[in-house]
Amino acid sequence: MKSLANSRVLITGASVRIGRQIALQFAKAGSTVVVHYNQSEEPARELLAMLEQISPGHELVQADLLVDGEREALIPGLMGGGRSLNCLINNASVYRRCQLANVISESLREDFQINFEAPFLLMRDFARFCEEGSIINILDQRVATVDPSAGTYGFAKKSLRDATEAAAVQWAPRIRVNAVAPGIVLTPPGIAPEKIERLIKYVPMAQRSDPEEIAEACLFLAQAETITGQILYVDGGLHLVGPDLQEPDDAHYTGSDC
Ligand SMILES: NC(=O)c1ccc[n+]([C@@H]2O[C@H](COP(=O)([O-])OP(=O)(O)OC[C@H]3O[C@@H](n4cnc5c(N)ncnc54)[C@H](OP(=O)(O)O)[C@@H]3O)[C@@H](O)[C@H]2O)c1
Repeated sequence: MKSLANSRVLITGASVRIGRQIALQFAKAGSTVVVHYNQSEEPARELLAMLEQISPGHELVQADLLVDGEREALIPGLMGGGRSLNCLINNASVYRRCQLANVISESLREDFQINFEAPFLLMRDFARFCEEGSIINILDQRVATVDPSAGTYGFAKKSLRDATEAAAVQWAPRIRVNAVAPGIVLTPPGIAPEKIERLIKYVPMAQRSDPEEIAEACLFLAQAETITGQILYVDGGLHLVGPDLQEPDDAHYTGSDC
């Protein structure tokens, strides 16, 4: 296993929730963390203070990944002065549900921009600017199933899964590309917590996964020197049994966040 000591990792959307746990675990393993955020400046500063208690040298970087110029400047802006990146973790995402017949082009475009286009173009920039290293894309266990409730978010995550595998082949042996596919971890904004509790009964392991477990999966993939093109499901086996189609609310979702 490759040591993460003296490595530098960029984690997108890292200031809160799962991204924050990934940042803390990488710092504990010896990495210098570049915490990317968009709107969550205060939580990002709070995280930076937590990271500095572990070790010095961590950084904050702000960028709206929906804005081409900001996204394009992100990785080149972290190069120079003899510094590079050893790892990129594409964690930033927006989750929304939309009945397929209600999809509008604006929400479709945005779902693909944030959940596929931005992470893919950051992968490309990592391959252009960094000599070697590893990329980890955070997917969703839904990439293994047909889940209409995941809507265009699900389609975009499936595209990112395909990009993970294609890049793993094309960029080997210089860059390893893997993914972690979480199941039920944290309640998405706008979804009632009781709904999530109800869904736990479909998880073979009968429990949600902790953000710490997602972070540990990322750590493992960042250190495993011969693993590439792998999708690591951290979902209590949910992807094996498929979506909660028994829940009429999900199979025939009639609401609309889009
Ligand atoms: N939560 C779960 O149970 C679950 C389940 C399956 C898969 N996942 C996947 O795991 C990852 C993390 O999940 P999460 O629930 O912790 O994520 P989240 O809270 O929904 O989003 C993480 C961050 O993404 C950033 N982001 C959104 N739009 C952005 C934009 N335009 N530009 C830059 N950053 C933007 C936000 O940063 P700011 O706050 O700074 O704006 C946000 O804090 C995601 O990829 C998600 O798809 C999560």
